[in-house]
Order: sequence, then structure tokens, then C-alpha cells
Amino acid sequence: MYRTHTCGELRLTDAGTTVTLAGWVQRTRDLGGMTFVDLRDRYGITQLTFNLEEDRALCEQARSLGREFVVQATGAVRERESKNPGLPTGEVEIICTELKVLNGAKLPPFLVEDATDGGDELRMRYRYLDLRRNTVRKNLELRHRMAIEVRNHLSAQRFLEVETPVLIKSTPEGARDFVVPSRMSPGEFYALPQSPQTFKQLLMVAGFDRYFQLVKCFRDEDLRADRQPEFTQIDCEMAFVERDDVLEMFEGLAKHLFKTILGKAFDAPFQRMPYDEAMRKYGSDKPDLRFGMEFVELTGLAQGKGFKVFDEAELVVGIKPTGAANWSRKQTDALIDFVKRPQIGASGIVFVRWGEEGLKSTVDKFYTPEDLQRWADAAGMQQGDLFCILAGPADRTRKQLNELRLHLGDLLGLRDPWTFKPLWVVDFPLLEKDAESGRWHAMHHPFTAPIPAHAHLLESDPGAVKANAYDLVINGTEIGGGSIRIHDRAMQEAMFRVLGFTDEEARYKFGFLLDAFEYGAPPHGGAAFGFDRWVSLFGGRSDIREFIAFPKNNAGRDVMIDAPSRIDDIQLKELGIRTEQKAG
Ligand code: AMO
Repeated sequence: MYRTHTCGELRLTDAGTTVTLAGWVQRTRDLGGMTFVDLRDRYGITQLTFNLEEDRALCEQARSLGREFVVQATGAVRERESKNPGLPTGEVEIICTELKVLNGAKLPPFLVEDATDGGDELRMRYRYLDLRRNTVRKNLELRHRMAIEVRNHLSAQRFLEVETPVLIKSTPEGARDFVVPSRMSPGEFYALPQSPQTFKQLLMVAGFDRYFQLVKCFRDEDLRADRQPEFTQIDCEMAFVERDDVLEMFEGLAKHLFKTILGKAFDAPFQRMPYDEAMRKYGSDKPDLRFGMEFVELTGLAQGKGFKVFDEAELVVGIKPTGAANWSRKQTDALIDFVKRPQIGASGIVFVRWGEEGLKSTVDKFYTPEDLQRWADAAGMQQGDLFCILAGPADRTRKQLNELRLHLGDLLGLRDPWTFKPLWVVDFPLLEKDAESGRWHAMHHPFTAPIPAHAHLLESDPGAVKANAYDLVINGTEIGGGSIRIHDRAMQEAMFRVLGFTDEEARYKFGFLLDAFEYGAPPHGGAAFGFDRWVSLFGGRSDIREFIAFPKNNAGRDVMIDAPSRIDDIQLKELGIRTEQKAG
């Protein structure tokens, strides 16, 4: 037997027992007559103690242990003289009588401790060492607990977990596909699923009624802190449902997770907000509702006084960070620098302050105190407030102000990770027009149904149609999204036409689904939730990589196994792919 106990479980009540532990050497401390070794495993740290006078050879062996050596130690549990209240095992130590090195270890490239000196790239390259650290391990434990709760909860609601294939045909979710060449059909490719969307719909046609799956999805898109090329969804679908049935069901799942994982009870229903309202009030379809700072539109009030920037703008709109009137010039200049960054692209900010001497603005030349007072009234300003105003084309200006709002939320400490404000955003537009090609794109995906009242407008006025779609947004993060689906062949064909597919293209790509709709497809709808995002939200961090055992870096590489990588010519030939040299 390698061990009788783990390194996290011994307590004062075990004093006197002889135990054997196995684990990794976190560190050794040599105090002359005594040598202490912190032995670590997944469960905790226990102090091993070696006494030079009692057993010189053993003590010297302990002194020679390097960091991360794998050892097995036997000895008696004893009450410590100087206790460590910071450790659950901190009241005891093991007076060692036997020590065996199970394996040595090279000096690790960074400290395997909570506060590490390892940078991102190094930690990812040696991820197996990084995963030994408490902080990272705890994130994966959280992920595990959440996965269990998701399965338990959905299973109790009669959902069946069904696995869908990974080698499939393209499913459009708005990203590029990862493709896999087929050896048996040279020149042909599988696509990896961007989601199991069509399969879960086919399961509804098959009568499965309530389906879910914790499933890997693959999307070749630009990466960010909350986007990985392969990520996990809690993918769900239900038959014989309308929008509110779906929202209620998954609100139940969210509440269950809040309760069991974080101990937070949400009694009231989650807030719901139409897309148009979210855009108008927050300039975002995923507003962070942990703080107010709603947009105030000033276009009418601010125009016609000779200030060109406002006069020529489609929209003049501001936000009012409470209590920021006394911010220094340096602080407001930093805000201007923030919005001028190329990623945001605003040309500047007009400020109105309500300080000790009343209202003052950076455009006093153009506006009278009465004008400013009217703005202040519109914004509900009070003494002590600062009003930050942007102007320009409506959509772009709203997006810029959204960035500024979130930045101010951070600066003012209004985005506490342990406060949660869930929100359903509903009534999305069904389609959006691509500015360059002039083509319509499905805002969610092409299987989403219009709201029933707009179904007849699909071909005559596509831009006016609202989708029967919804997103779950928590604290400004899109945690999930879904829709009621089209289940009628004619309507699905109409949708493909609006999206610019010829009938042949539609049949080639989605004939299987169109056919299935002719064999008794029930009304159905569903949603999918970004599991990595949800776990990271509950872990209080925004980088989902911290909650994925072996993530990719921002260039889509796994720097540990060094993938993607070249494959040899023989393999390429087998796959019917010609190498560059042989091409042409
Ligand atoms: P959607 O594309 O909105 O919907 O994806 C659902 C949720 O998955 C998460 N997500 C991601 N997480 C990490 N990395 C990524 N690259 C990534 N992309 C998406 C988000 C998102 O809300 N088939 C539909 C769902 C449906 O209609 O039922 C779909 O996939 O949290």
C-alpha cells in the first residue's frame, strides 16, 4: 500500500497513529537539528519532521530532497509545537521513521505554489506542473462539481444525455469550421461541430423530447479571454415548448447552480429585456446590470448651438458616473485616451461636471448655463456627478459608450465578481445585413424561428422580423443562447432563400434536416450554455483558460504538446492531400 492517508486529512485526533503518506515535496526547511518537509498532494499539505539526533542518515536524506520529488514517508502523527492555523493539517506533523524516494524531479521552471513566478506561456508549456497548484486545481474541482449538478438537475427533469457525432458536416454558428480530411473519401472533408444544433433537432424529430449533452464544440475564430477554439456547451433541446417554457426550464437550471454551487438563492424571476432596449440603454446586447449608468440621449437638446461635433452627429449620448465630478484632469484625460484607443475609436469625450461652482463643461463656449442645466435635468445629475458625452453615428457611438461604461464600472469598483445579475435578453432581430456584401445573415443561426406574429414578414420584410430567440446574460457575459426553431420545411426553405442559398445549396447542405421535417417534426426549441464561461463566472475570474485543464493559447496553439503540427508526406498522401512541393 502506497499510503494510508492523504496529505489533507490528518488532525489532532489522529495523534499517536502511525501513517504512511505519499506525495510531492513542496519545500524543505533545514533548521540545523531538525528538517521539515512540506508534503503535498491533491488534498493538502502535511508537515514531515526529521530529527538529526534521532536518525542522522534519514535526516540527511530528507535534506537532499528537491522540490517536486515524489516520496513516500512513514511515521507517527504528533501534535505540533508551533501550529500553523493557515493549514487544515496545521496542528500536526509526522515524526518520520522511513522515507522512500519514489521518483526524482528536475527543478521546476516556476514555483509550484499559489503565488507562482511563472508567466502564462511557461505555465501552459508545463501545464501538468501548473495543475499541481491549488488555485488551478480548485478551478477544475469547481468545474467537476458544476458538471455533476448540471447532470443531476437535468436528469431529474427527464432530460436524456445523448452523444452526437464529432465528425460531421458543417453546422453554421457564425465561425469557420475545423475540418478533417477523409482517407476513405479522398478530397472530401468532415467538419467538426460548431455545435450539435442539427443533431439535437433531429433527436426532437426522433421523439426524444428532452435532450442535453455536455459537449465539445469547435470554432475556428479569433480568440479572447472568453473564447477557446474548442470549448464545452451544456447543449439542450425540448419538444412541445414555447419560449417561456424554455426560459423557465433553464432559469431553473441556473437557480439550481447558484444555490448548490454558490449558496445563493434567487427567488424572483430573472429580469427580461428586449434587445432594442438593451441596445438603447446600454449599447450592448449583453449589458452588465451590476450597476446602472444607463445611457442618456441628448441629441435634440444638444444640437443647433453651433458645436459642430454634436450638430453633425446622428446621436449624442452620455453616461453619468456618480460622484466623479472631482476627478482630476489627469483622470479625465485617461478616459479620453481610453476611448481613443483604436479598438474603441471614439474621437473624444465632452465632460460636464457639477462641482462646487455649479455646472461646468468642456464646451462652455457653445452652451449657456441654462443649456447645461437642461442636460443635467435630462440625465438626473446631482452635485458631485460627472457627465461623459460621446457623439457620432448611432450604432458605433452606442458601442463606444458601452466600452466606456464598463471601464468606468471597473474604475468605480461597481463590478464585484460575487454579485450576480442574471438577465434574459429577448426579441433579437432575426437577421442582420452584412454591410459589405449586402446579404442577410442569421443573427443566431438559420434554424431560429421568427416570433409568431412576424412569420409572414420573413420574405417580404426580413429586416423587420424579430427572432424567437433569447440569450442568458450574467454580469455582462453571454452565458448562453437559444431559440424556438423552425420545424416546418417550407418555412426553413424560405429562411434559406432569404439567406441567399439556392435550393440546390440548401439541399446539399441541409437536405437531411429538410427531409426530417417531413416526417412529423414536433414544435421544438432549446438553448446552449457556455460551460467554460459559466464555471469561470462562478470561479470569479474572466479568463476561461483557468478553468480548462489543457487550454490553447490566444494563437490557438497547445504549447505543451506543440499542436497544431506538420504531418508527414505519407500521411498527407493517404489523405489525398498533395504537399506544396508536389502541387501543380
Ligand atoms: P451559441 O453560438 O450562442 O449558440 O453558443 C452557445 C454558448 O456557447 C458559448 N460559446 C463559447 N464559449 C467559449 N469559447 C467559444 N469560442 C464559444 N462560442 C460560444 C457562449 C454561447 O452563449 N446551437 C446554438 C444554441 C442553440 O440555439 O440552442 C449555439 O451554439 O456562452
